[in-house]
Amino acid sequence: MINVLEQKEIISFIQSKWVGRDVVCFEETGSTNVEAKVLAEQGAVQGTLVVADSQSGGKGRRGRSWHSPKGSAIAMSLILKPELETDKASMLTLIQAIAVAKALEEICRCKPQIKWPNDVLINEKKVCGILTEMNLNKTEIASIIIGCGVNVNQESFPEDISHIATSLKLETGQMFNRAELIGCICKYFEKYFEEFMVAKDLSGIVAEYNNYLISKGRSVKVLDPQGEFQGEALGINAQGELLVKEKNGGIVEVYAGEVSVRGIYGYV
Ligand code: BTN
Repeated sequence: MINVLEQKEIISFIQSKWVGRDVVCFEETGSTNVEAKVLAEQGAVQGTLVVADSQSGGKGRRGRSWHSPKGSAIAMSLILKPELETDKASMLTLIQAIAVAKALEEICRCKPQIKWPNDVLINEKKVCGILTEMNLNKTEIASIIIGCGVNVNQESFPEDISHIATSLKLETGQMFNRAELIGCICKYFEKYFEEFMVAKDLSGIVAEYNNYLISKGRSVKVLDPQGEFQGEALGINAQGELLVKEKNGGIVEVYAGEVSVRGIYGYV
């Protein structure tokens, strides 16, 4: 029997003070990020969580699509309305990545890793993707939507992505309660977000994030539209940039926007 995610069950697992205190839950929607944007415009408060049991038009990064099938995945979008400079919004993606990693460790007892900036992996395959979208009112932030998709209980993936995508079920052999995971992700997001809003940078999570960073100490290829280069990934700095040491010893700060980083032999 398929268990459908329900608002009441999610609320029963919320331990945070304000993240996920208001939950809007759909059995199916196009994209929770789109729903969250509309709700934010209609006055939804910071911390409102939009969840769907399945999505028919889930959005991924770089214009790709994201599949959230019925009864087995998490599709959630968090509405934030922070007083923040626009150039800091992308740092929130890294906060969500670490919140997911911590929740997977706590609930699933697995060893997640992060592929900078924001893919969460288990056994070198992607189990979670994050899409952060910022909505402006003239030059100020009206809302930031942190969309997060976690592959929880899927038993298989379409052939074209099965070499890079996985689920918690496939990696651990166990099924997990999606509502419990959502509650735990919200708990960690709130903690790290509050620290971020005091420091106004990622200094509070740099060390922990770098412990999860899969490419740390590995050779990476930086796919910069200005020109590709290779180097050794050292870790992130407090701005969330990836520090890459080039062969000549120079250290390049790679900003997440346009650039993607690959292992020299493939995805990680
Ligand atoms: C990626 O490409 O890695 C990011 C995927 C983000 C998917 C999530 S699922 C919930 C939210 N709603 C969407 O339409 N996308 C994000």
